[in-house]
Amino acid sequence: MKKYFKFLALFLIILTLAALLFGCAKKETANNTQQSNQTSNQQNSTSSQPADIVEEIKKAGKLVVGTSADYPPFEFHDISSGKDVIAGFDIDLANAIAKELGVELEIKDMSFDTIIPAVLSKKVDIGIAGFTITEERKKSVNFSIPYIQGGQQIITYKGSGIKGKDDLKGKTVGVQLGTTGEEIAKKIEGAKLKQFDKVDAAVMDLLNKKVDAVIVDFAVAKAYASNNADKLELVGDMLDDAAKAVVLRKEDEKLLEIVNKVITDLKNSGELDKMVQKWFVEYKPAK
Ligand code: ARG
Repeated sequence: MKKYFKFLALFLIILTLAALLFGCAKKETANNTQQSNQTSNQQNSTSSQPADIVEEIKKAGKLVVGTSADYPPFEFHDISSGKDVIAGFDIDLANAIAKELGVELEIKDMSFDTIIPAVLSKKVDIGIAGFTITEERKKSVNFSIPYIQGGQQIITYKGSGIKGKDDLKGKTVGVQLGTTGEEIAKKIEGAKLKQFDKVDAAVMDLLNKKVDAVIVDFAVAKAYASNNADKLELVGDMLDDAAKAVVLRKEDEKLLEIVNKVITDLKNSGELDKMVQKWFVEYKPAK
């Protein structure tokens, strides 16, 4: 009888050990899977986010960026090579982000006011379009760390008599829908607004004297004016001075970290300065 109990005890011990071992092994497999997932995410911290956008982008093999390619030198249609390619400072930045993710870059050209809705509805992964960081936008989207500073500028046709903001009373001011330029123009007393989807259409109206002035970013005003040096000029002071950043969905925190890392690396390596030199100093828009 004693022997029998001893045998039973031994049997139970073996059974427990086996169960323990099996359990551990199973746990380890689970851990491994998780770890390999994490490695491919390039993330070391565990996250309870349901959809991992970084993983999705890598799986798709491409980063989809929404922009409004009417804004040289930030983004514009470059036809100088005979082919129509979207180029500019922001596109170089977008390429750097795609490279960091190890994927291709796909640019989607749309009107500026549809970029944030496209980001929110996941039609694009991120928005890069000379976006000024504003409190209003921050309510619906996240911004990366700033990558450049800039201000809004009045551009007018030569002989308009407009010398600055105070002369815009009773004048028609062309603005791009959904921009900070539009917000600023709304606050100019007595100015009549004409909204455009695309900046090139606004500048076309300016050249045809259908509007008296257009408000865009300083560098953009300079690019359009240098292209029409005999007709257009920049007048008055800059109307604001604000930081530009990449637009992301609020939940895409891992992607935000990556975008911020890319910007920090570009800053630290001196590459961002080179990009500024290339696009904001040396770049001459093709006629
Ligand atoms: N910086 C201004 C803003 O954030 C204008 C940007 C317009 N960008 C463009 N690609 N058209 O509202």
